[in-house]
Amino acid sequence: MHRVAVLGAGTMGGVHVDCYVRSGQAEVAYVADPRLELAQHIAATCGATPLADPEAALRDPEVEIVSICLPTYLHREWAEKAAVAGKHVFCEKPIALSCEDGRAMIEACRKAEVKLCIGHVLRYFPEYEAAHDDTAAGRLGRIGVARLFRGGPFPVAWSNWYSDRRRSGGLLLDLSIHDFDFLQWCFGPVERVYARRIKNEQPPLEHALTVLRMKSGAIAHVEGSWAHPGGFHYRFEICGDAGMVEFDSTKSQPLSVVTRQAAGQGPGVAVPESPLADKEPYLREICDFLAYARGESEPRVTPEDAVAALAVSLAAIRSADTGEVVTL
Ligand SMILES: NC(=O)c1ccc[n+]([C@@H]2O[C@H](COP(=O)([O-])OP(=O)(O)OC[C@H]3O[C@@H](n4cnc5c(N)ncnc54)[C@H](O)[C@@H]3O)[C@@H](O)[C@H]2O)c1
Repeated sequence: MHRVAVLGAGTMGGVHVDCYVRSGQAEVAYVADPRLELAQHIAATCGATPLADPEAALRDPEVEIVSICLPTYLHREWAEKAAVAGKHVFCEKPIALSCEDGRAMIEACRKAEVKLCIGHVLRYFPEYEAAHDDTAAGRLGRIGVARLFRGGPFPVAWSNWYSDRRRSGGLLLDLSIHDFDFLQWCFGPVERVYARRIKNEQPPLEHALTVLRMKSGAIAHVEGSWAHPGGFHYRFEICGDAGMVEFDSTKSQPLSVVTRQAAGQGPGVAVPESPLADKEPYLREICDFLAYARGESEPRVTPEDAVAALAVSLAAIRSADTGEVVTL
């Protein structure tokens, strides 16, 4: 059993704790958050010790893994501290706010000989995986155009940190980075970007469209929205000269299978099963990281991939700020 400390008891802290517990391979020893009541609430679900300050968790020699679920501006500081303390690090995306910070995290983990993984979870969503595999296998032929959308309402979190660009990087760095990473996973590096963005302080909203030219010659456009009054949703369409693949989360039906209980005769009791239970993206991502920490496998997302996705986000922000095309 791996002993884990989860830093941050907000949205992603809760997701990580749940995944470690359900992995059956890890025990959550600490949940740390200055909002102690939140740490206590999550810690109570798994028998962990709640902490207001993560330092005590880093001092515990039994803790082998630190999961960083903190606002993005804190990623570098705590990844470096965890590495110096000799812990493997799983850090939520985006890796950091600047490529320099991201590279410093990689260097700190390399020097301490600990593993570092970044949570670009889109690579574990079955529909994105399938699209990646189709394009990698050449089933769609030569890719010409990819169109991706991701959006929902403006995120609400601790101290409104998402609305502070100095702490979150804003929509292009926090949200559209999922799609930038996916594009580079499928089609290789981005060559240049052009982005337009609208923002409003009150009520807070942000919406951006980024047009990307890949080095492969493919063109992509990525639309991101923190201005959508409906629920969170996402879609993509990838077109090649031999076919296309498309997905829209608002149109897909959850897959459910209803079977009769094996035991007993007659109508029995209907038992719903989920054939996709082993496809849960966050759980599979955490299990992959644990296998990597044990030295059993290579990571699907390297920290260098995460820095490369961040570089695209930063280029898109520069383009939106200046109105210029930005070449990477
Ligand atoms: N992979 C995904 O799908 C996904 C989804 C949402 C967010 N994220 C990323 O996860 C990270 C966390 O986002 P969130 O939405 O969970 O934020 P959040 O605001 O819900 O949670 C962050 C928590 O960190 C706590 N915190 C602040 N300073 C701390 C410190 N020094 N030590 C310990 N805890 C501290 C806050 O009190 C808060 O509870 C961000 O980088 C975000 O971009 C990823």
